[in-house]
Amino acid sequence: MDLNTDQPITERTNPLSANIDILAPLDIVSTLQACDEEIFNGWRDFQGLFDERIQSNLSKIMEVAVDVLNDADRSVIIFSGCGTSGRLAFITARTFNSHLRHLGITECYQYIMAGGDRALFTSQEAVEDDPLLGAKILKQLSEDKVRVLYFGITCGLSAPFIAGQLDYCLKHLDRFTPVLLGFNPAHLARNMPIEKWDKTFLQVVQRLEEAEAKGQGFILNPVVGPEPITGSSRMKSGTATKLLLEAVLMPAHAKSFMHTKLGIKDYLVQYKQVWESVYSQKSDIAALLHLAGSSLKQGGHLYYIGSGGLGIMGLIDASECSPTYGATLDDVRGFLEGGYQTLANLEGDLSSLGKHFGISLQDFMDQIVPNLTDRDLVIFISKDRPYSIPKEVEVKPCNKACIVVNITKGDSVQSVSTFNSKVTLDLTEVVLDSAALDADLRLRTIDLYAELAVKWTLNAVSTGAHIMKGKVFNNIMIDLKPSNVKLFHRAVGIIQRYSNLAVEVCQDYLLRSLYDTDDVSQEIRSAAMVDHIKIGASKPKVVPTALLAALLRCTIREAKVALDQQPVLRQVILDSMAGQQGNTQ
Ligand code: F6P
Repeated sequence: MDLNTDQPITERTNPLSANIDILAPLDIVSTLQACDEEIFNGWRDFQGLFDERIQSNLSKIMEVAVDVLNDADRSVIIFSGCGTSGRLAFITARTFNSHLRHLGITECYQYIMAGGDRALFTSQEAVEDDPLLGAKILKQLSEDKVRVLYFGITCGLSAPFIAGQLDYCLKHLDRFTPVLLGFNPAHLARNMPIEKWDKTFLQVVQRLEEAEAKGQGFILNPVVGPEPITGSSRMKSGTATKLLLEAVLMPAHAKSFMHTKLGIKDYLVQYKQVWESVYSQKSDIAALLHLAGSSLKQGGHLYYIGSGGLGIMGLIDASECSPTYGATLDDVRGFLEGGYQTLANLEGDLSSLGKHFGISLQDFMDQIVPNLTDRDLVIFISKDRPYSIPKEVEVKPCNKACIVVNITKGDSVQSVSTFNSKVTLDLTEVVLDSAALDADLRLRTIDLYAELAVKWTLNAVSTGAHIMKGKVFNNIMIDLKPSNVKLFHRAVGIIQRYSNLAVEVCQDYLLRSLYDTDDVSQEIRSAAMVDHIKIGASKPKVVPTALLAALLRCTIREAKVALDQQPVLRQVILDSMAGQQGNTQ
């Protein structure tokens, strides 16, 4: 139960998933289905996507987008975000530029990913705390533009990087129309001081509210309920981000270039049909989840292989496993047919940065295939027919699975026995208004639906697999990395939740674990947050160690020994809590 009503909704625990850590695979998927339903049906008194103010803002933003698109040579539409929000900013810009290119119109979409393109695959969370850097990048990107439609995506209404950009927009309302996209009511925006800055996120939101009243800016913040895994905004919030951006821009493109009218609401309703189609396959998804969980539990790996937008969904899903579950960068990896050429990211080929930046099939063949074992699982993602498995992989003892999204009617998917598990997502029954969509837009639309269907499926698989590995306690990710201010405070909150100690004491336990000491010096206590975070980003098991030390009132060394003996974190926590109760009886 949430006792603290001042807590942002995106940081609350979802009662629907309170015991997700002890559920069987099929029940995990059903729980995710119920949590996702809140995106469409709303949460408690909140109307979700269909809220009147949200619908009205969507229409107004669509009109601004049409104006910008009609002056594409001199204007720009920018999406910006951190972590998964930045990755979704990237793929949205990529999608709509591709349509403009097809029409022979200047590509006027840009994305800003906090931490640059390397953050597309590896988390670079410290940058999220820098509002001045955010503003500087936005300024550089927009300087020569007469009109800018800016989308700042921060699911929790909390990222300082985005606050800095919104602030910059608000100072230049003659050229900028800022849109804040997130999933908390405005008054629950983060109201904490930001290092080296003079405003809080909430103060920026309040100025944006004033701008909204004059039609100069917008807050797009439907409440879609807490995440199934507390704070894991890659899940529902990421989904809602993707579908809201598309539901505004597809109609804007239709109006600008096809001269047809497309309903924003119709799009949203169709997304609900996609959600229904995906979860109608929940037994198959559960079987895949089980296979993935078994791999991770045995120390094996999970690999996604796909092409185009579906392959990119794999890259995005994989990228978030490390900060969310303390996974190594090798545990879950995505590979994309055509590598960087297909990705078409701003900074081009990043493979020289290290092995985790190798994303092509060739990289998969060179780096991974020679070492594949029966503990690994390779998931091939494709449209309409199963991916043809390369011979080199076929002969390997690893598990092989496929996700096939059916978008073409009548193209039956033949069963291929090589796969240990198969999920078929049938989108052929999703009703598209053919009067409003020309053939090309229809295909593009269905491709976007396919991406979302794959996102839902992969989120379920990777979340469930980490649950099976024991990385979740109740519905809390207990091995997150405290690698930025938000995550540092979230970590303190987790320690407090289970230990019932005072916040300051919990913070001390976190510092003990970060600095490997039982005696937190004044120097450590007064160090800048950025120093704590630097350590938090690279050190393994900081939060579990701190939590265990707090629960057992033991030294950091003792906590580490206990963790080494029992790698399933939820079991360690359970054992120590049981021990604690025993002691008080
Ligand atoms: O700080 C890391 C992170 O929590 C990622 O997991 C997430 O994708 C990102 O922040 C974005 O958060 P928000 O959209 O709320 O700014």
